[in-house]
Amino acid sequence: MIIIRNKIELGSFLQLQRENGLSIGFVPTMGALHEGHISLLTEAKKQADFTVCSIFVNPNQFNDKSDLARYPRTPEKDALMLEKAGCDVLFLPDVEEIYPEEDKRVFDFGKLDKVLDGAHRPGHFNGVAQVVSRLFDIVQPDKAFFGLKDYQQLLIIKALTKQLNLKVIIVPCAILREKDGLAMSSRNMLLNPAEREAAVIIPQLLSEAKSLLKAGKNMGEVKGLLESKLSKNQIYKLDYLELCNASDLSSINSLNKSGESIILIACFVGKIRLIDNLVIN
Ligand code: PAJ
Repeated sequence: MIIIRNKIELGSFLQLQRENGLSIGFVPTMGALHEGHISLLTEAKKQADFTVCSIFVNPNQFNDKSDLARYPRTPEKDALMLEKAGCDVLFLPDVEEIYPEEDKRVFDFGKLDKVLDGAHRPGHFNGVAQVVSRLFDIVQPDKAFFGLKDYQQLLIIKALTKQLNLKVIIVPCAILREKDGLAMSSRNMLLNPAEREAAVIIPQLLSEAKSLLKAGKNMGEVKGLLESKLSKNQIYKLDYLELCNASDLSSINSLNKSGESIILIACFVGKIRLIDNLVIN
């Protein structure tokens, strides 16, 4: 695996691969890698000839500066994991490399970035769109791989590629979970043992919500039941728990009969905000 920090160098190196007829698969990340990230790379290796993974903790997508400061950074371990997984190039730029000057672009994703994480983390998806459009510009991938764990982000990226008329194919990848069901996340390593144990309630609430909805309860009732469970322990602070149409994240009160529905949750466990979701078809 080659590590490249300079975008011009990366661009010309990838141009050589393209000239050799190789397709390029790209996995953008913010590092502190876990098996969920590696599963994206494994999929990229299946679907493309040459794989690039980027690690860049993008300041523009953190609306909460203390969240940015505490975001885990484990570059040496990450590089070892990627090398072992067969990644061809690790792109490791610094902030100057990605933002030589301030990015003032304001994207408009209609309703998509006004709900859920868009509503609770103002500016977050604009920052994601800024960095992903810059990374796509540098890497010019044939395919880019994103986890369904960040479902709203995936829809935003799809909308972004459409808006910018990019040829890249966006490949959604399944959520990888720990044995107890907790979705893998770089933020899990910030949980202390008691919080880590408590965090398992998140996937449990999602499956409970699914059963209750399938049994005919509406989301208002389900939310009431689940909120009262969370309120029994002070460690939790619910940000949102919503039922939506999976196609556009519009809010609904009972399961969509003609398409997929999705339950999405964001919940603080101690100081750490975790998100998860469950698609219901
Ligand atoms: P990060 O949180 O590092 O995630 C990188 C990619 O890994 C995203 O596509 C995310 O959905 C995926 N991922 C994370 N946990 C996963 C899991 N348990 N199973 C499957 N996939 C998982 O998302 C970002 O970084 C950033 O916003 C980024 C797109 C890199 C832009 O800065």
